Amino acid sequence: MSHDDFPTDRPAVVTCGLPYANGDLHVGHLRTYVAGDALSRGLRRIGQQTAFVCGSDMHGTPVAVNAAEAGVDPREFALDYHETYAETFPQFNVEFDNYGHTDDATNTELTQEFVRSWVEEGHVHEKEIEVAWDTEEDQPLPDRYVEGTCPYCGEQARGDECDEGCQRHLEPGEIEAPVSTLTGNPAEYRTREHKFLRLSDFQGYLQEFLDRIEGTDNAKNQPREWVDGELQDLCITRDMDWGIDYPTEDDTEDFVLYVWVDAPIEYVASTKQYSERVGKSKYDWESVWKFDGERRHGTEWDDDWTTAGGEIVHVIGRDIIQHHAVFWPAMLRGAGYNEPRSILATGFVGIDGKALSTSRSRAVWADEYLDAGFHPDLFRYYIATGAGLETDVDFSWDRFAERVNGELVGNVGNFINRALLFAHRNFDGTPDADVSDDVRDRIETTLSAFEAAVREYDVRALAELATDLSDYGNEYIQRTEPWHLVDEDPEEAARVIRDCVQLAKAVAVVMQPVLPGKAEQLWGQLGETGSVADVSLSTALEAPPETFDEPDQLFEQVEDDHIAELNEELQTRMDDASEDEDDGDEEDDIDLEPLETDRISFDDFEGVDMRVGEIRSAEPVEDADKLLKLEVDIGHEVRQVVAGLAELHDIGDLPGTRVILLANMEQATIFGVESNGMVLAAGDEADLLTTHDDAPLGTRVQ
Ligand code: MSP
Ligand code: ZN
Repeated sequence: MSHDDFPTDRPAVVTCGLPYANGDLHVGHLRTYVAGDALSRGLRRIGQQTAFVCGSDMHGTPVAVNAAEAGVDPREFALDYHETYAETFPQFNVEFDNYGHTDDATNTELTQEFVRSWVEEGHVHEKEIEVAWDTEEDQPLPDRYVEGTCPYCGEQARGDECDEGCQRHLEPGEIEAPVSTLTGNPAEYRTREHKFLRLSDFQGYLQEFLDRIEGTDNAKNQPREWVDGELQDLCITRDMDWGIDYPTEDDTEDFVLYVWVDAPIEYVASTKQYSERVGKSKYDWESVWKFDGERRHGTEWDDDWTTAGGEIVHVIGRDIIQHHAVFWPAMLRGAGYNEPRSILATGFVGIDGKALSTSRSRAVWADEYLDAGFHPDLFRYYIATGAGLETDVDFSWDRFAERVNGELVGNVGNFINRALLFAHRNFDGTPDADVSDDVRDRIETTLSAFEAAVREYDVRALAELATDLSDYGNEYIQRTEPWHLVDEDPEEAARVIRDCVQLAKAVAVVMQPVLPGKAEQLWGQLGETGSVADVSLSTALEAPPETFDEPDQLFEQVEDDHIAELNEELQTRMDDASEDEDDGDEEDDIDLEPLETDRISFDDFEGVDMRVGEIRSAEPVEDADKLLKLEVDIGHEVRQVVAGLAELHDIGDLPGTRVILLANMEQATIFGVESNGMVLAAGDEADLLTTHDDAPLGTRVQ
């Protein structure tokens, strides 16, 4: 069964994966939002009623852990980031119709309603499971509080996700060799009662759902294996305070809903907020998210699904396919809601072939880009082109400059400037002439390609329309040489320039989804009024105003030294970070004592009698806080020595410890206690020297 082509007579909603409100946005995150924004603009342009919504993901351990590290209350911490994101997105021309957050009342109510529906329909059950526990802190370790090994692929995984390996979602208790991130101690498994959504209830439904889902191949194919295999129950509760309460009559449960329950429901809540703001007559959230007429429960498949609900399009990164293509449709179905029409999962953005890191070092930050003063559309163009949506890509300042300078400045900007400057100087605007058939055909082909790109969710093809059309325009100018025609054949000159001006207008219309700011600027240069965002696709074929002013350059060259500077900053940051990684701990941070320059003879060394020993007993020395009296067995005899270990070692740990004793140290009396040797130790922490193997006591060190 296939979906009707866009535009349909039902409203659409485009959503983007909600950013966790726990840190700064980087170019990787932005790939999701630029793709979603361009697509929703494209859909509108072809006449599809569309809402574009998102919100901040406020709950779960991703926020709780970072808030605790910052010593801030999680709500306050997340709200801070939420506000920053709400300000940052428009600076990249990412303009949501509604940007909410998962902790607001709309989402809280809706989430609890969803859960109640599942309970009523019998999809939720309670089960005892093993959850990771930190014995030192005496607390459970949900999700990111525990790290260990992925049971599916063996990679290092954190809590509920195998983020460095197979990308699978991990249920509580699944991670192997769990270690607490709170104390670094191995975690213990303890039995707790939790609530589960029975995904196996939806197996048949999900298999059919995957047959009709549209979007990128990764989102359509990867979930097959999960849905065809045994579907594990999804644990929907967590032992935490931060989150939305599990809805119970008596409020006795001491856990909250798992973050992946309330997060996708924010897609619905955010649409609802938009609908309430503009009025249901303008946009009705229920006609998108719910089926027409009465709600349909149960898991039986309905044949008339196409008549129900609107067009739901999710744009996400490839790391969260399972949540959107398996859990989410089951959650929606279980509550009697409509299902996604399409899921677009983008490839990951990295640097030099490596993943971005969430610590400040290995990433290009949204702020950093804006601070560099580049127009947001340049980034949008760069990230939308170059590779297909699904492909993993590297961010590189060099490539950015190359593409901007070559394609936007050299091609699009150059064509627009030549065309409009010529038109302004010779005709004061659009010449009075007809557009040639060739140019009209070329524009019509571009408009069809625009529609096709939107229908196929092909963001790259959409972004390349403006460059292709400008290419054509540049060749056309080269071929016709209007600068000669002005004197030789003014009528022909008018016709040629008329064509060029029309091409420029078409460029403005088709570039708008990906380069909305620049399209608006070009619209103004053409003397058009209003916004290019509001016109229909066919406006590209209507004549521009008769007069317009001398145009400015549409795109500015990205300078080499600026790129060199940005590269250097990034490189220094990454080098520092990899040095830190190599260190492992603070060892290399201490000031090392300079090496002795005076050499000693072998004979001198022979004079030093060092022996393998074992501490038999250790006791404090009266009146000396730092000193211990040790009995050290060195094979021939047991020596009494005084050593400054009292504050650096646990006295109880010392007996039985193998040490190296300088046996012919001159005798001394320290705080009234006789000392017959010296226990060797390294550094201020008195790291005790020992043997690697089991040389017998009394063996000489040489
Ligand atoms: N909060 C969840 C999503 C919940 S959706 C109901 C989440 N948040 S996130 O902050 O980690 O990511 C936000 C978006 O950015 C997601 O779509 C994610 O896939 C995407 N990306 C995060 N890092 C990325 C890259 N390095 N590259 C490409 N996309 C990336 O996941
Ligand atoms: Zn894995």
